[in-house]
Amino acid sequence: MPDNASPSPIISVRGLTNRFGEQVVHEGLDLDVQRGEILGVVGGSGTGKSVLMRSILGLRIPDAGEMEVLGTDARSSRLEHRQHIQRNTGVLFQDGALFSSLTVGENVQVPLKEHHGELPDSWRYELALLKVKLAGLPADALNKLPSQLSGGMRKRAGLARALALDPPLLFLDEPTAGLDPIGAAAFDRLIRTLQQALGLTVFLITHDLDTLYAICDRVAVLADRKVVVNAPIAEVEKLDHPWVQEYFHGPRARAARDGRDAYLERTRAEAP
Ligand SMILES: Nc1ncnc2c1ncn2[C@@H]1O[C@H](COP(=O)(O)OP(=O)(O)O)[C@@H](O)[C@H]1O
Ligand SMILES: [Mg+2]
Repeated sequence: MPDNASPSPIISVRGLTNRFGEQVVHEGLDLDVQRGEILGVVGGSGTGKSVLMRSILGLRIPDAGEMEVLGTDARSSRLEHRQHIQRNTGVLFQDGALFSSLTVGENVQVPLKEHHGELPDSWRYELALLKVKLAGLPADALNKLPSQLSGGMRKRAGLARALALDPPLLFLDEPTAGLDPIGAAAFDRLIRTLQQALGLTVFLITHDLDTLYAICDRVAVLADRKVVVNAPIAEVEKLDHPWVQEYFHGPRARAARDGRDAYLERTRAEAP
């Protein structure tokens, strides 16, 4: 939930434009992400969700627009600004992007080595073990190669690496794509639990309606080269926009809403 004491958004994007040659992906896109929320980012394939994430992270220099992330100008090329954003964000890329020749433990230690070279090896090992456990993997996953893990476990390993530096801001690009429904639901619950326990803000790209209904506080829809709505899902559903109507009112959406109700009942029952 947004923190009323500090209402400034953790991410603020204004007038973002991204072009690839003739193709205009974003044009005058605005987006605010509030502290402490899980923002679900949806839109048809190729609408520029991943490009938006890369722009916010400073991995792509946009053609126009302003972006403030964690109080820093995300377009700045100054090293201290780049490092501030890097140290305070964790990213799970769409393809997982683990180093295939490194074990899970070594993968998780990569950002620790980069940003905390001063730590003794044994501390880095212990920190990696902690993150692997936080991500819901057994301790013996630490010494396995990514190729020795299931798809769901690889996602968790990527999550462990994203959490390596204890970032307040987490980016997840299609984290449940390719997982079976049970694995996807378990991953959703893990994200919600971590977000609440660690006070994270989560920028979550997904096309998974179950995820949107189960764990997102707000939903931003990318269409027509911009964010056409950014609101709680009950408001988003009502928007008179062709893509929104088709997406949120098909049979899959109905099943996801039912699933959300079951999820809420279960978490209420589990609450102390
Ligand atoms: N590096 C690139 N060079 C050229 N075109 C790109 C590049 N990255 C993305 N695009 C194009 O931008 C559009 C949006 O891509 P992307 O953000 O990956 O979409 P999605 O919403 O599916 O994540 C796509 O049409 C894609 O082909
Ligand atoms: Mg994408």
